[in-house]
Amino acid sequence: MKKIITIFGSTGNLMYKKLIPAFDNLIKHNYLDSDTQIYVVARKNWNLEEYIEDAKKQVTVPIEWDKLTTYLKYIEMDITNLDDYYKLKDLIDNFKEVDRMFYLAVPPSLFPTIAKGISTSGLIKKDDENSRIVFEKPFGEDLKTAKKINQELWSYFSENQIYRIDHYLGKEMIQNILVVRFANFVFEKNWDNSSIESIVILAKETEGIMNRGNYYDKVGALKDMVQSHLMQMASLVTMEKPETYNSNDIKNEKVKAIKSLKIDPNNIILGQYKGYKNTKNVDPDSNTETFVYLKACLNNKRFKNVPIHFLTGKMLDEKRSEIIINFKHSNSSYSSAQQNKLVIKVAPKEGVNFILNVKEAGLTESIIPVKLDYCHSCSFLGNTPEAYEKLLLDLFNKQNSLFTRWDEIESSWKIIDELKGHELNVITYETYEDLKKIIIKQSED
Ligand code: BG6
Repeated sequence: MKKIITIFGSTGNLMYKKLIPAFDNLIKHNYLDSDTQIYVVARKNWNLEEYIEDAKKQVTVPIEWDKLTTYLKYIEMDITNLDDYYKLKDLIDNFKEVDRMFYLAVPPSLFPTIAKGISTSGLIKKDDENSRIVFEKPFGEDLKTAKKINQELWSYFSENQIYRIDHYLGKEMIQNILVVRFANFVFEKNWDNSSIESIVILAKETEGIMNRGNYYDKVGALKDMVQSHLMQMASLVTMEKPETYNSNDIKNEKVKAIKSLKIDPNNIILGQYKGYKNTKNVDPDSNTETFVYLKACLNNKRFKNVPIHFLTGKMLDEKRSEIIINFKHSNSSYSSAQQNKLVIKVAPKEGVNFILNVKEAGLTESIIPVKLDYCHSCSFLGNTPEAYEKLLLDLFNKQNSLFTRWDEIESSWKIIDELKGHELNVITYETYEDLKKIIIKQSED
């Protein structure tokens, strides 16, 4: 069946940074049928050549433009005008049988307008299994708006037509968390508070907010990163073993894990990088946070008294996302032995490493920590697929296991809303070192 994916927000950052490179790679590796079409929707009175000309200026990675262009069609549309949805419908209905997907790469405030247009015009009929609609995060601005959007979506579409993206779920090593935990008896057996001392969930970035002031200043790091990506990582790391590895059983356990997460309001550090306020489309008096450190714990038997540290921010010293499991010192271990540590490296280089103690080589009794290092990206010929490639391919194949279910989003919004209810101070930082000192001082107090 012919597939058509229509992308709203085709002149946005997400399209240029992530979706175009992902489509380019899928096409290069023959994952898309040659009659697949990608409709790029925008408001500007352009033709396809003009769109490509602009895209070439924005996309920073090499793209086989000639090949990609054969899949694209430019659609000029005013998303508030219902007639434009009917025109799009006529265009798509020209094909006898079409598997149709609509991707909303737009801010959440536009979700209701576009979803309504798609439903009212009949572009998607409820329950039609060959129609899907995709939403980018953040899904809503808080629990209240997310619920409202969701109720509206359920009135137009059935749950299995709704795909809510959290692109971290498409990352190779995030897909690997359950495998590392449950395919290795040694970890499965020791994955609780008798063996684990603390957990760190980290996503550091070197870039600032670039040209995303309009979006970012209303959102901030808590909603942009913690509510979605970091909560997803935490839930996979701390959930109980699912009954089966099917999508719903896994999601059931993830939801329970998120619900038992408690953040300590006295252990929060919010920061804003110096110069942020001078960014285009940012309020000069903005109090929006670009850095978050949180200490949390899980209100359940398995992880009682195990602190979970969340850390994310922009304009830091390095680009690094990882999950660190610090194991306890055993009472019977050599006094100079270090703690075992498991690191699941999500980005920039995917892999897993494990720190263990060995006797130093030579005529010595010393014990030294060594690193067993598995480089996941090295084992794959070429680059490991980007998250968006995996997610787009799953969308094309009607696979929704790496997309978030409503109750996952609902429970993580509850946590963020609760935090936002506290009076939280935002400090200005110049370097990551500034923040590190404050975190260390706070943990000593
Ligand atoms: C996005 C956020 O969801 O994730 C961005 O909106 C952030 O602010 C990005 O930069 C980080 O993703 P990645 O894949 O580069 O770690």
